[in-house]
This record gives sequence, structure tokens and C-alpha cells, in this order.
Amino acid sequence: MQKKNKLVKSWVNRHVNDHYVHLAKTNGYRSRAAYKLAEMDKEFNLLKNVHTVLDLGCAPGSWLQYLSRNLSPDSNIIGVDLLNIEKLLNVTFIKGDFTDNSVVEQIIIATNTQKLDLVLSDMSPNLSGIKNVDQSRIGLLIESILEFCDYNLKTQGNALIKTFQGGEMDSLIKLARELFKNVIIKKPLSSRSESSEIYLLCKDKKI
Ligand SMILES: C[S@@+](CC[C@H](N)C(=O)[O-])C[C@H]1O[C@@H](n2cnc3c(N)ncnc32)[C@H](O)[C@@H]1O
Repeated sequence: MQKKNKLVKSWVNRHVNDHYVHLAKTNGYRSRAAYKLAEMDKEFNLLKNVHTVLDLGCAPGSWLQYLSRNLSPDSNIIGVDLLNIEKLLNVTFIKGDFTDNSVVEQIIIATNTQKLDLVLSDMSPNLSGIKNVDQSRIGLLIESILEFCDYNLKTQGNALIKTFQGGEMDSLIKLARELFKNVIIKKPLSSRSESSEIYLLCKDKKI
């Protein structure tokens, strides 16, 4: 119990002193995660020519805030999460599990059956702590995103997908390379170094 309290205390200390936490507060973002998207957008110009965008695992909504601040007001921004979010102007929010067919159907309705220009996923599945179980959970989730992109992302469209180092990463990258011309692995500076999260920037979807 004492060890757990110590861990919680050190997380709180780190969080309070974190540069990106301060920035998020100052700029009215709901979480520091906004700066990961901002950083990758600055480097890779992710939002160029984007009109219809899907943000998977969007709660509490800082990526959605970044999108609505940086895309034109007539763009179509759709967010999906298991958890509710506080309402955001110009955003269609769908509450549910992305791997449910009914949620995919709601996404397609929200796009007005137009193919997406950009798919973002910052989804982190609930982890059990059992390595094999967690790796296969992450693998299945990413496979379902890639399958979704295959049908619903425009040719030449891009996807940015969070995954975790280790396990099935190599085979996921191989799978992504079948669908996209270029797959770049990125660990943004604003991603905590102790986190194993990384992002796959999947560029230029093949036909
Ligand atoms: C790290 S948070 C995302 C933070 C978000 N990018 C932001 O800027 O506020 C990850 C989210 O993924 C969601 N999530 C995990 N698995 C999901 C699933 N299968 N379907 C929908 N959302 C999921 C979780 O509920 C959680 O809110």
C-alpha cells in the first residue's frame, strides 16, 4: 500500500511539474495529449487538405480541440470514445466501442458516406498486465483500424495510429505497409519517455 501511495505521489508530482501540462492549461486544452498531435502535425503537415477526419479514442477531447482550432469551420470532425466527452462545437461525437459494427455504421453515417481524408487513433485499450494478452489486444485493435481504413479512407489519405513498442509491432508495421506507401514510426518529444507508446504515421494510402 505504501509503495502504491509513493507511486501515485510521484505521478502527481511529475504531472504538476510537466511543461506540457502547464501549456495545456494555459491554452485551454483538455489534456497534454494535444501537444503530441500538434508536434506531429507541424512535422508532417497532417492537416493539409483535410476536410473529413476521424479521431478514435478521443476523450477527453484535446485532439478534437486541436482539429477544430486548425481546420476550416466547414470541415467534418468526428470523434469516437467509450467514454463521454464534454460537448465541442463543430464536432460529431459517437459514444461506443470502435470495434462494434454499430459504431462503424454511425461513423459512416456521420461522414455522409464520403471517404475520410485522415484517420487518427490515440486509443489505449484497457491493459490487463498480462503481456501476451495485452499484446494481442493491441494487435487486434490496430488490425481493426487498418481494416477500417482499407474501406473508408480515401486513396492517398493518411492515418496516425498509436501503438506500443514490443510484441506484434513488426507484423503490424508490415500489415500497414501493405495498405500505405510509406509508414513512419514516431515517438513525439511530448510523449513521456517512460511510456512505450509510439505512433505509426501511415502515409499515402494505396488504391
Ligand atoms: C489516451 S486517451 C485519448 C486522449 C485523446 N487523444 C485526447 O487528446 O484527449 C485514450 C482513449 O481511448 C479510448 N478507447 C480505448 N479503446 C477504445 C475503443 N475500443 N473504442 C473507443 N475508444 C476507445 C479510451 O476510452 C480513452 O479515452
